[in-house]
Amino acid sequence: MKKTVRDISFEGKRALVRCDFNVPLEDGKITDDTRIVGALPTIRYLLEHGAAVILMSHLGRPKGEAKPEFSLKPVADELSRKLGVDVWFRSVPTVVDGEVKEKAAALQPGEVVLLENTRYIAGETKNDGAFAKELASLADVFVNDAFGSAHRAHSSTAGVASYLPTVMGFLIEKEVKYLGGALTAPKRPFIAILGGAKVADKILVIESLIGKADTLIIGGGMAYTFFKAKGYEIGSSLLDADSVEFAAGLMEKAEAKGVEFLLPVDIVAGDEFGEDTPHADYAANAIPQSRMGLDIGPQTRKLFADRILGAGTVLWNGPMGVFEMDAFAAGTKAVAEAMAEATEKSGAVTIIGGGDSAAAVEKFGLAAKMSHVSTGGGASLEFIEGKELPGISVCEDR
Ligand code: 3PG
Repeated sequence: MKKTVRDISFEGKRALVRCDFNVPLEDGKITDDTRIVGALPTIRYLLEHGAAVILMSHLGRPKGEAKPEFSLKPVADELSRKLGVDVWFRSVPTVVDGEVKEKAAALQPGEVVLLENTRYIAGETKNDGAFAKELASLADVFVNDAFGSAHRAHSSTAGVASYLPTVMGFLIEKEVKYLGGALTAPKRPFIAILGGAKVADKILVIESLIGKADTLIIGGGMAYTFFKAKGYEIGSSLLDADSVEFAAGLMEKAEAKGVEFLLPVDIVAGDEFGEDTPHADYAANAIPQSRMGLDIGPQTRKLFADRILGAGTVLWNGPMGVFEMDAFAAGTKAVAEAMAEATEKSGAVTIIGGGDSAAAVEKFGLAAKMSHVSTGGGASLEFIEGKELPGISVCEDR
């Protein structure tokens, strides 16, 4: 067990808190504040327990340059609004300078500072010790709460832990509780649903889940590679040609282990990739040569929903179709709705494994109905693969 913020006293201490404020921005406006909302419980707890709080995060990939479009200023403004506290922020290209050091040294309990984007510094992503030491010099304790960046061993996620006592925040604790709980002691039956474009991106995830889930459901763009492995004609649908053999092997493995492996039985296919393209429903093994699969069909929606409604735990990563286009959103929506119903009606544990599926449940207004929506993209996948995440391993053991 790792130490959390509950395990140490923050009275009169300066806490350096790594959050994942890597939020989407459009014209300088935050379009999804899920990650900011996710960080608030830890920040509020620290403020209520006598700490002065110094927040830090990366935003995007500025690659060691102080590019203004990657400034955390919009996040500072949003945090001030959400916390009801004036969050002190200076857009310093070096992240830490004399003024920031002075401010940190004089920071009083209940006050909050947000540092500029840690990726303005080239050493950050190389886990440079000098930068980590400079960050650590600002505080007495390091709190890592950046689950979305926990798979990165960078100066601000892992390096600082060499210089300060280190504990995890409530967000990482919650992510580990739900994702870890599903993998180690799921309420059964445990159904894992995987979608998204490429099989290759999720090879290790699928392998890990075959050993743990009772039913594995595959949808979305990756389903066509499995169809190919079964010898179906897939028209101009997405094909991950290098993974066909692997897909065939996975289906054999699932069968040998007695894991139910469900693929779509029908799909919606259109002439081309576009909202207005002519389209129709086809049996999975009868996709016309000139058409591409863009969503799962109505029979599949019902089949997947039935399984979800009988589940104890559902873990979902990756959309069922091109949900960004209304014409091809029905499959992804049906899965999201069935999960929400499963939680509501039978108390199923429903977990959205981050990335596009998190964006989808947000779009359908169903995020609050899930047991847990992960704030991690790559981090959730690596966690499900069973990898040790550096941002979690650096936290002290109890
Ligand atoms: C994410 O959005 O997945 C995290 O913030 C990590 O970002 P990165 O992939 O640029 O390290």
